[in-house]
Amino acid sequence: MPDLDTRARAILARNDRGGYTVPTAGLYPYQWNWDSVFAAMGFAEHDLPRAWAEIETLFSGQWANGMVPHILFHKVDPSYFPGPDVWGGTGPLPSSGISQPPIAATFIRALYERDRPAGEAHVRALVPKLCDWHRWFFDWRGEDGAICVSHPWETGRDNTPDWDAPFAAIQPEGIDDYARRDTSHVAEDERPRSYDYDRYLYLVKIGRESRWDEAHIKSASPFRVADPTMTFTLLRANRDLLALCQAMGEPNCEIESWITALAAGSEHLWNPDIGSYDCLDIRTGRHSGVISNASHLAWYAGVGGDRMLGHYDRIMGAVRFGMPSTDPGHHAYEPRRYWRGPVWAMMNWLIAIGLAEAGHAARAEALRRNTADVIATGGFAEYFDPRDGSPAGGRDFTWTAATWLAWASPTTKGITCPASS
Ligand code: GLC
Repeated sequence: MPDLDTRARAILARNDRGGYTVPTAGLYPYQWNWDSVFAAMGFAEHDLPRAWAEIETLFSGQWANGMVPHILFHKVDPSYFPGPDVWGGTGPLPSSGISQPPIAATFIRALYERDRPAGEAHVRALVPKLCDWHRWFFDWRGEDGAICVSHPWETGRDNTPDWDAPFAAIQPEGIDDYARRDTSHVAEDERPRSYDYDRYLYLVKIGRESRWDEAHIKSASPFRVADPTMTFTLLRANRDLLALCQAMGEPNCEIESWITALAAGSEHLWNPDIGSYDCLDIRTGRHSGVISNASHLAWYAGVGGDRMLGHYDRIMGAVRFGMPSTDPGHHAYEPRRYWRGPVWAMMNWLIAIGLAEAGHAARAEALRRNTADVIATGGFAEYFDPRDGSPAGGRDFTWTAATWLAWASPTTKGITCPASS
């Protein structure tokens, strides 16, 4: 499908701001953390130096405590709310005060596999930064080896039903009046509700007022939830970071201990009542009871064997386009509302990497084809309706274009999977 390849490359070029890429103009006019990693993989198909630059710009925003922010506000743009003043980030660049799923080490390894030996200087410079970032997760987000978030935006799954119970316990008091900008770009019923936004801003306020004092946030915030996106991507990222260290001739036993802790911690996310991985609310000790697309990242993390296989086959069999972000059998499923149902192409890519490595090559390939079909049907949208593949959310989206180029397109040269450890 060369036409789609051309369109995808054009989207990357249009969203390129010079050294970094915005997810889409208007709705998301800044640099987002995991979006940039996917963007780098799209660039890697035709421009390896540009791929490295994307990642290096992301790490230029790393805080002194190791945290790599979820948004870097390189150039102020009023089309987005909440901007840099609302966040009051304390890093070297204007930024948000929270992080995002740490997929970078995994894809840096994949880039290096593609760019040996020239990429070595990049890897040598990035490895210590990755170690500092991963250590930050242990210091401030770890609960017995499961990785928590202090804000839903940190997981990248902003309004999944996983947050419904923890949010019900929050009274968002004392937030300033605000005007959302997202609903001027995208239909309201494809975005989070105002109820959620009030709580998002309340949690930002707690962080900002403490000047992002992690010790304070950890003890005082009403929101602390262990999450499969974070736990599974960090576990996987540590395996790849260890492989990078070994390739540089620098074995690292701290990373080995992280891998052991995370593998054990993943067990805390297993909910026997539904037979699935889900979120665990640290404040109440309750599981969310939601089978999400993040639950299916267990293979990507290399945990759980085939525990998720029954749900995987059931859910993929229930929709025309998978993997829906929420199980269609769940009462909170909404097929067009953001992370409460729609299909996200880049999540499918991560799930397929895990499936292929676990020996489910046919399922991985079927998911790739299904994702190619949804993009051919709905274009390079932010996300898609699982029932008919119609586009939803933002359009001309960087990570959908990148996922097409690096994985879903039949012409991809790319890294179908990063090499497994
Ligand atoms: C939304 C998504 C998040 C993504 C960001 C930019 O907040 O939920 O995962 O990183 O948009 O695309």
